[in-house]
Amino acid sequence: MPTSPENIAATAAPILLAWYDAHARSLPWRAPPGTPPPDPYRVWLSEVMLQQTTVAAVKPYFSKFTARWPDMAALAAAPEEDVMAAWAGLGYYSRARNLVKCARAVAEMGAFPQTEAELIKLPGLGAYTAAAIAAIAFGQRAVVVDANVERVVSRLFAIDAPLPGSRKQIRRETDSITPDQRAGDFAQAMMDLGSGICTARDPKCLLCPLRSACTAHAAGDPARFPVKAAKTAKPVRQGTAYWIEHCGQVWLETRRGTGMLGGMRCLPGDGWHAGGNGCGPPPLDCEWHAVGLVRHSFTHFALEMTVQKCAVNTPDIGRDGEWWPIVDIARAGLPTLFAKAAQLVAAEV
Ligand code: ADE
Ligand code: SF4
Repeated sequence: MPTSPENIAATAAPILLAWYDAHARSLPWRAPPGTPPPDPYRVWLSEVMLQQTTVAAVKPYFSKFTARWPDMAALAAAPEEDVMAAWAGLGYYSRARNLVKCARAVAEMGAFPQTEAELIKLPGLGAYTAAAIAAIAFGQRAVVVDANVERVVSRLFAIDAPLPGSRKQIRRETDSITPDQRAGDFAQAMMDLGSGICTARDPKCLLCPLRSACTAHAAGDPARFPVKAAKTAKPVRQGTAYWIEHCGQVWLETRRGTGMLGGMRCLPGDGWHAGGNGCGPPPLDCEWHAVGLVRHSFTHFALEMTVQKCAVNTPDIGRDGEWWPIVDIARAGLPTLFAKAAQLVAAEV
């Protein structure tokens, strides 16, 4: 049956699966198309890492994690600090805290639950991850919608309503083309199509297996989709990080709580946060000098962080934290903005 926008519900999946059989990306967490599903542990780990992070950035972390913690039992037994430090640089650190919680919960249950409804109850699993794991690891029919799928589907159906309001409609249309069999391969085929062909700025429609079913292509301007609501600019916050040195070591503190960067090793700061500038006093009364400025973008705000430095002649500074050898700073597991601060300090001399 030739495909067209009218019969897309029946034709999209077989066409896309045939394309996937020939062109699937080979990725470390995948099983080749049509073969038995991969280890659920590896599917789960990769999907958690891939939320908000690119395939290229995830690959080295995935191999580091699976070498160090080859299965759920190993990860469940790992100290949380070790996992947080290994995660450093990937961002969105609540994912790492939930990773440990989820590993422990699954280890306790004895095995992963296999349905979307059970999976979504696990720590850190949202609608996307639960659907992805159910489909990819357990062969269940589940409707998997990530940013790639959103883009492809909004083009296939030329959805005019802007994101994020159009999410329900996108989900409905994705549901309408999701097959009963091979839903995991179908989801990953959509992701591969989105990342290699139906790209954000420059969709390569001439190479696309779904071209004749695609309404946006027929209308002539597919890059117009997905339509996005006008963005409000991120607020810019100012803050300070303090680099305190003693005998070749730097003072690090572990952020408390489960909020932003909670559980991560950090430089002491002046209290900057998403809602306001830092205005607290320096952690020590000594001669500070400014090393430079680090710019960093968080989800809801941008930060301009001044780095101040001083050297002290006693290790006893009356705060909770630890001295860390500066030559070994790469192993401290600092979040990216503090790793940038450390680079500024290193570049100073
Ligand atoms: N992004 C999220 N999950 C993915 C997967 N399984 N394959 C490729 N890209 C992805
Ligand atoms: Fe995307 Fe073009 Fe394919 Fe439509 S035809 S799905 S716009 S690449």
